[in-house]
Amino acid sequence: MSTLDAIEGKPRILTGDTPTGQLHLGHWVGSVKRRVSLQDSHDCYFIIANMHAYTTRLAKSDEIKRDSIAIVRDYLAMGIDPEKATIFLQSEIPAIAELTFLFAMLLPFNRVMRNPTLKTEIELKGLGETYSFGFPLYAVGQTADILAFRPVGVPVGEDQVPHLEMTREVARRFNQVFCAVDEHCEDEDHVRLGGVFPVPRAEIGEVGRLMGIDGVNKMSKSLNNAIFIADDPKEVEKKVKKIFTGRQSPTEPGDTNNVLFQYVRTFITDKARVAELEEKYAKGDNIGDGHVKLEVAAAVNELLAPMRERRAKYEGRDDLVLEILKAGCERANKVAEATLERVKHHANLVSWPRRLSYM
Ligand code: TRP
Repeated sequence: MSTLDAIEGKPRILTGDTPTGQLHLGHWVGSVKRRVSLQDSHDCYFIIANMHAYTTRLAKSDEIKRDSIAIVRDYLAMGIDPEKATIFLQSEIPAIAELTFLFAMLLPFNRVMRNPTLKTEIELKGLGETYSFGFPLYAVGQTADILAFRPVGVPVGEDQVPHLEMTREVARRFNQVFCAVDEHCEDEDHVRLGGVFPVPRAEIGEVGRLMGIDGVNKMSKSLNNAIFIADDPKEVEKKVKKIFTGRQSPTEPGDTNNVLFQYVRTFITDKARVAELEEKYAKGDNIGDGHVKLEVAAAVNELLAPMRERRAKYEGRDDLVLEILKAGCERANKVAEATLERVKHHANLVSWPRRLSYM
């Protein structure tokens, strides 16, 4: 059984994003759709990792601020309900910063530097030897993002698994060093045996990796091949028409594994129609790419219609978005502060009860 299966009450989960700007259909397919479906059965926390964005975009902090608000607006548009789920800003949770410092002591320096996700990022972003101390520290920080909330599961993509592995190591080490949990204890037993932290599981969903409209790369804002949640119906149609298949005529047998058909299967909800389109296309039964694209565009627009409607309420109303974010931070701080209090107690840090609240 997955830890995401509700057993008693609502199991807590946490996940989040580094703010990078407007969200697109790739985000919907890859993560947000799943989050929306989890919010009834789970106690959901969604972190906007704005401090992480400072590791590589320090000189553009104004953009990070704008993107942090934009991502919340898109979450709300896509159906994340702030009454059910807690959306909050990493930089507003002091316990995360405090735990990061302590957790850094639980991880050997070389262990952090061996984290494959960090290594890949250093390569891909060409950071060379010039990255800041804060860059590898973000991975330690991510263990604190997660453990501050003591979740049982963390729904993420494959690329985040090394961070989750490190998080699990921190949880185990803390429980062993400070809560006298036996080092041979099974991961599932840590809390029962007195540990502060559950050893959280990475919950890798069915990988929804949507290709971009260029038909070559994964959908990505920086590659200019994305359909944004905020695109209007005409824009969507225009973009879908650009999907490149290389097929010449409606009577040429088509390859139903091409990008266009990935879209057909992802967005057309009538499964009988999908099967029919696949069959005709494969045979070259007088069905043109142009026609298939119109059906795909209509399906995408049907998906986006309620999102547009919800989004309209927040367009140009950053004040409303910020209000939701503030309420989320307040709720998140309650949980994180409670964790920190227990951590300090177990780690023998002298401390006094404190209250965090906004003016
Ligand atoms: N590093 C994650 C990403 O780039 C974002 C993130 C930050 C995160 N803190 C997290 C994801 C905690 C899950 C849990 O996508």
